[in-house]
Amino acid sequence: MALIDIRGLRKRFRDQEAIQGIDLSIEAGEIFGLIGPDGAGKSTLIRLLAGILPPTTGEIFLHDIDVVTNYEEARKIIGYMPQTFGLYGPLTVAENLRAVARIRGVTGAEFQKRTERLYRFSGLAPFQDRRAAQLSGGMKQKLGLCCVLIHQPSILLLDEPTVGVDPISRREFWDILHTLAAQGSTILISTPYLEEAARCHRIAFLRQGKILEVLDPLTLRERFPYATCDIFAPEPRVLLQGLQGRLTPTAAFLSGDHVHLIGEKQLLASGRLEKTVRQLVAKGAIVEVKETTPTVQDLYFVQERMGNET
Ligand SMILES: Nc1ncnc2c1ncn2[C@@H]1O[C@H](COP(=O)(O)OP(=O)(O)O)[C@@H](O)[C@H]1O
Ligand SMILES: [Mg+2]
Repeated sequence: MALIDIRGLRKRFRDQEAIQGIDLSIEAGEIFGLIGPDGAGKSTLIRLLAGILPPTTGEIFLHDIDVVTNYEEARKIIGYMPQTFGLYGPLTVAENLRAVARIRGVTGAEFQKRTERLYRFSGLAPFQDRRAAQLSGGMKQKLGLCCVLIHQPSILLLDEPTVGVDPISRREFWDILHTLAAQGSTILISTPYLEEAARCHRIAFLRQGKILEVLDPLTLRERFPYATCDIFAPEPRVLLQGLQGRLTPTAAFLSGDHVHLIGEKQLLASGRLEKTVRQLVAKGAIVEVKETTPTVQDLYFVQERMGNET
């Protein structure tokens, strides 16, 4: 039996159908990734599953519980972390946990036991008395996850929980997710980062409210064997033309005040890119080649480009 079962799901907002017929089954213990360009419908799908948005048509079963008709039961097994979630900034880590626990009816010895476990697990123990507002980005996200875990949900719905978090904290966050999955949690998570998507067991590529395809991590890695970077220099437009002429990168384009480039990993690792950039700008100009974390937008861009060429 599938733990998450979605059938014929559609969601129409006033002038737009954000979810256009989704059927999907997710098994117990799976970490299932949702990727897709902005506006693809990832957040809408997650909110529908969390039961906080009613579908226009279709059915959602979580653990055989109908989310639409039996929300009261469903919410007991759902842990939902919205794209922007609220911690109480002036309250400490411990007070934040106590506040959500009270809402969920978790008190006394049971609360103690659970928070101790969450502290151990998340590494938040030394920060119990720190105000949430004073935590680093990575710590905030871990506290957010702990808040979502306090009622011991079996299904986690996480909407881009690691955006803006430093790479090390992101890796730690994912280690926690893998531990949870190994203990039997089922996780649906959206992410803009390809390396994170590749840590899922399966990944659905969403576009315009439909699942284009379901991928496995290996296929995803094969589709994007590139490195990405932002190049800052005076006259980025001129630099872009020069780079396209000299290096023929996989893709390069202007993005705000800099050039965003997608290219072979070797191009960056060998220093050949940086050398070429320096040759293309005026002598003594300040340039910076900053490697970035490849995102779904990067993949999307490469796919669109290749699609147009064939
Ligand atoms: N509450 C809403 N009212 C109207 N349109 C919405 C609402 N929520 C989302 N949308 C629209 O639905 C589409 C999908 O949005 P969303 O699910 O947030 O995409 P994603 O999370 O993949 O970026 C977008 O075009 C968005 O503008
Ligand atoms: Mg979103």
